Amino acid sequence: MKSMQKLAIFASGNGTNAQRIIEYFFGHPDISINLVVTNNSDAYVLTRAANMGIPALIFDKSAFNEGTTITNILLNKGIDYIILAGFLCLIPANLLSAFSGRILNIHPALLPKFGGKGMYGQKVHEAVIAAHETESGITIHHVNEYYDEGKIIFNAKCPVAADDSIETLAKKVHELEYRFYPEVIEQVIMRTLKPELGK
Ligand code: GAR
Repeated sequence: MKSMQKLAIFASGNGTNAQRIIEYFFGHPDISINLVVTNNSDAYVLTRAANMGIPALIFDKSAFNEGTTITNILLNKGIDYIILAGFLCLIPANLLSAFSGRILNIHPALLPKFGGKGMYGQKVHEAVIAAHETESGITIHHVNEYYDEGKIIFNAKCPVAADDSIETLAKKVHELEYRFYPEVIEQVIMRTLKPELGK
């Protein structure tokens, strides 16, 4: 395996996680962020990517879901891993098989609860509060053909207070995301790259 592992971050919106991941891997000896990919030409993640000098690719949904154009672009750029960070679309089969075991996602709740189609961002926190949960958190998992159902790699929890709003809960969950997602990405990749580092 070549040593420098190239990552593409897929994001549909604000991109605070994408920014955090890009910052974390600046100057890393083995891992680089080479591309930001989005389905949304208005996504603020594009401004963040431009500010940090990371190239971006905006795709149209039909090109993403039909044919192999996006997969081929990623393979031609030598991308090794796909990191989903607030990405709304389901990953099509050809992309999944080209990057088998090398696509990670973060979900802003404790899966398998509060996952699935349409469970995205604020809607997840709204559902957690409506269900009177006393804890929430983050789940980092491998991606398969279903929304939020791939093998779980890591989770971290935070309390949900009786007076938490969507905004205050989102803030707690975002803090966990910023703290753990870059590190977990690094661990998953480095264990594959250098198995002697162990489990
Ligand atoms: C994050 O909280 C991420 O976990 C969530 O969207 C937010 C994106 O925020 N992802 C999902 O809900 C996926 N189902 P960001 O754009 O500021 O990183």
